[in-house]
Amino acid sequence: MKTPLLVLLLGTSLFVFGFTGLGGAQVSMGTPGDQLSPKQEEVAELKACAQSLAGGFLKVPATRDLRFQGKVTTPTARCRGGQRAVEFQTTPWVDWARYWGTGDSSSLPVGFLSVKGPQLRGVAGALTDLEYQRLELIKFNLFDNSGTYQTYVSGRGGVGGLALKTWPEMRLPSDSPYYQAVGGDGEQLCRGDLIRARTLTGICNDIRNPRMGSTGMPFMRNAEFETTFPDLEQTTLTKNRHGGRISLLTPNPQLISRKLFTRVQSNPTSCNAGFGLSNNSADANCDYQKAPFFNVLAAYWIQFMTHDWFSHMDEGHNAPGATMDVGCKSKLVNNVPTPLTPEEIQKLGCRPGDQIDRSYVLNDSPPDQFTMGGRTYLTRAPKTYANNNTAWWDASQIYGYDETSLQRVKRDPKDPAKLLLEPVPGMSGSYLPVLLPSDPAPPQWKGQESVAFPDNWSIGLSFYHNLFAREHNSFVDEFRRQAAQHPQADSGLRNPSDPARVVRNQDVTADELFNVARLVVSAEIAKIHTIEWTPQLLYDEPFYKGMNANWNGLLGTGDPEVSTALSDIVVHNFGRSEDVKKATQWYSVFASGPGIVGLGSAVAHYDITNPNDVNGGVNHFGAPFNFPEEFVTVYRLHPLVPDLIEYRDVGKDPNQIVQKVAVIETFEGKATEAMRSRGLANWGLSLGRQRLGLLTLHNHPQFLQNIRLPRLDTPTQQVDIAALDLIRDREHGVPRFNEFRRQYGLRQLTSYDDFVDQTLPADSPARQQQMETIAQLREIYGTHVCDSSKIITDAQLNPDGTAINDCLGHPNGSVVDNVEDVDTVVGWLAEYTRPHGFAISETQFVVFILNASRRLYSDRFFTSSFRPEFYSQLGIDWVNHNGPGAEMMEAGAPNGHRQPVAPLKRVLMRNIPELTPELQHVTNAFDPWGRDRGQYYSLEWRARPDAVSDPAFKQ
Ligand code: HEM
Repeated sequence: MKTPLLVLLLGTSLFVFGFTGLGGAQVSMGTPGDQLSPKQEEVAELKACAQSLAGGFLKVPATRDLRFQGKVTTPTARCRGGQRAVEFQTTPWVDWARYWGTGDSSSLPVGFLSVKGPQLRGVAGALTDLEYQRLELIKFNLFDNSGTYQTYVSGRGGVGGLALKTWPEMRLPSDSPYYQAVGGDGEQLCRGDLIRARTLTGICNDIRNPRMGSTGMPFMRNAEFETTFPDLEQTTLTKNRHGGRISLLTPNPQLISRKLFTRVQSNPTSCNAGFGLSNNSADANCDYQKAPFFNVLAAYWIQFMTHDWFSHMDEGHNAPGATMDVGCKSKLVNNVPTPLTPEEIQKLGCRPGDQIDRSYVLNDSPPDQFTMGGRTYLTRAPKTYANNNTAWWDASQIYGYDETSLQRVKRDPKDPAKLLLEPVPGMSGSYLPVLLPSDPAPPQWKGQESVAFPDNWSIGLSFYHNLFAREHNSFVDEFRRQAAQHPQADSGLRNPSDPARVVRNQDVTADELFNVARLVVSAEIAKIHTIEWTPQLLYDEPFYKGMNANWNGLLGTGDPEVSTALSDIVVHNFGRSEDVKKATQWYSVFASGPGIVGLGSAVAHYDITNPNDVNGGVNHFGAPFNFPEEFVTVYRLHPLVPDLIEYRDVGKDPNQIVQKVAVIETFEGKATEAMRSRGLANWGLSLGRQRLGLLTLHNHPQFLQNIRLPRLDTPTQQVDIAALDLIRDREHGVPRFNEFRRQYGLRQLTSYDDFVDQTLPADSPARQQQMETIAQLREIYGTHVCDSSKIITDAQLNPDGTAINDCLGHPNGSVVDNVEDVDTVVGWLAEYTRPHGFAISETQFVVFILNASRRLYSDRFFTSSFRPEFYSQLGIDWVNHNGPGAEMMEAGAPNGHRQPVAPLKRVLMRNIPELTPELQHVTNAFDPWGRDRGQYYSLEWRARPDAVSDPAFKQ
């Protein structure tokens, strides 16, 4: 070992925990507004640091109402970010966003002796706050809907609920074809072929909980069951919170869509409701608010991801039977729904006649209750819904998640280890075949590409499915090439039914290789998402560090001894400890040491027949893994999509926009034609160069508000997807925005005005515009005379320890905003105050911290089964090195970091070689390709030298 472990551990914990002072004696450091010289400020900060340290470490609280809400003491804020961090502490938004070094170069101090110290305090402080948040989330936000919640609260057989690792509810039922194979009525344990690879329906990922995460299991919740379905007003708290003002269609979702979501057009004719102009003329224009540091490839990436993780729908539709009204019919007048007049309807351009099928419901019988410690709990939410996809990050959108979807996946008859791709005349490379009426799974539309998950298909999904089908085959080609050279060599694979046998390259069957390639592609996708997509979504230094630590380990990948030692500590001491609370909390912290990937895989003498080795690295923190409904809510990211794609031709001048192609003209079967006639390379260039839509109000695509769904047998055959996002959340019982924040341990808002970004100068045009939108919010959601005797939540308390009531701190009887009623999607879109480089809001983000970590921690193929026995040695190397051969390093040190060439960039260059010259200039494939990244997390929209003629930079 090169460095004493203790020193490293101490360093890690200091770095992770930092110091979050709990108060103590006040030291004079100047009051806000005092002008201190840089020297005085530096001294004041160091004093504040001493004071913060003296205050001791912040502890994860015993009860949810004592959560720190992303807020630190004044000395701590000053220590980490100076006056700038202290100034806005009274706003509801998290403090770390204003620490030193967490923004662009303007977030670094000027005139200090060195910027390094403040930057370290700021960035490490931000990571500390985020780690605390994660620990609190793990402790307070897991509510499983599949029947395990009572034991989570009460424990079982003397073991605390958070330490439980198996659940009877996760057993395979007797009608499962694998029931006997896993042990039938006795103890269930997956073995043999069932544990070698990812299974179709996701069973046997956790070998002791075969059913966990499999297709059809219920979505869990991150909010207390009692607070879900607020419009049912089943508790006094929800009654008091909403006062009878909300329901499925109140306030009216399509009215909200038209007033708060519509993109304002400077020239509506040239947008043509998102259809653009004839012949894809480049003169078309649909205005949208653009994010300068994130491209359209990133928008489609996340749609591609969600299709892997979850689906409420089944085969592209919701529940059969009577449809429900979803059109614009009313507005609120004095909190009473009042019919819209024909003139108002015409002015809004909305459709009262829209209807859609209802959500499938899994269970809506009244949930049982239980009592514990004098408190009564629900055993599950009042209604539950099935996740009709595997919850695992298993590339199921490509490979399938049930028998029907599997039938759409075509394998190459010439080499069944490969996916079927076919040449297209006049195009280089090969493309996914289309489904034929004679196929076992007939197409839902003409020209449907043969992939497992086809819903909501357009050009971007066609792009990624073609790309990763090529990547699958690239891996198989390389394996076959190496096998031909070294047929006798050990592939690294082992068969648990015959564990002693070395599986030589020449012994690997086509089926085995297909499954290995699936494992590799899934892990590559998870890696791209973790260290390439997310650090660009959250484009700042804490997240570059945080996400790389998540994947590679806080201590880097350089020292395998440290990784092994830490991994051992986590898995063997904490992961198996019965000291529940400590185990789960410390586990999460220590997992930042060795990194999640490979956690538990570095066990000496790994034995594929030993369940503790195969499964030992996973941790579900006491609640079986699935996504919560609240996770779906924060992924309703439709504003990311532009109406028109700025189409470019790689063979001509990449700086030229040759056409504007309407996304809606690539819907369903039209995507295939667009893909095959124009080619993967041109679409890659076009999506890579264009900025995506900001996640903010007034920024939904026009085409999605008016989409025509051929499957609907309704008066208009159209729906407004933006409105439907609100309706589905209401159907699924997602708490409204303010309670949603409280539930996740974030600070509540006390009026609509809290949405306004206080850091902007009062007279700035941006702030004026925000104020105008706030007025619209007030008009739509309304106000009421408050009653301070009505307690509205038990998730948090006022700062003075009293209960939060209907007046939200305003005098009793005053007129207050109905801020409690704001739909969660509307709320997070209205968050104008965001950390630097955040394409999403802090409310969305807190949902990710919890669930993105869980999705890795729970999956043995990313932890203890991330091993050559399952992936092959080539597979492990391919994932670690981002492709065949040794790791390639990026030239220079972008944002001060030496780093490997990013994984999606490698996938693109490997499978679409025409893009290689363009990608030479690109560091992160999700940053608009023509942009000059500038210095230290710049968000400027400025062309790199050879892209100055690109008209996108003149807009
Ligand atoms: C051309 C682009 C897109 C189209 C045509 C489209 C269309 C749709 C449609 C028709 C629904 C189902 C509505 C329902 O009946 O519940 C839906 C749901 C959804 N969409 Fe999109 N969408 C697009 C892009 C995106 C993107 C970029 C994201 C980003 C993540 C996204 C995320 C979602 C989510 C999370 C749902 C809910 C799924 C569920 O409940 O299981 N969509 N979309």
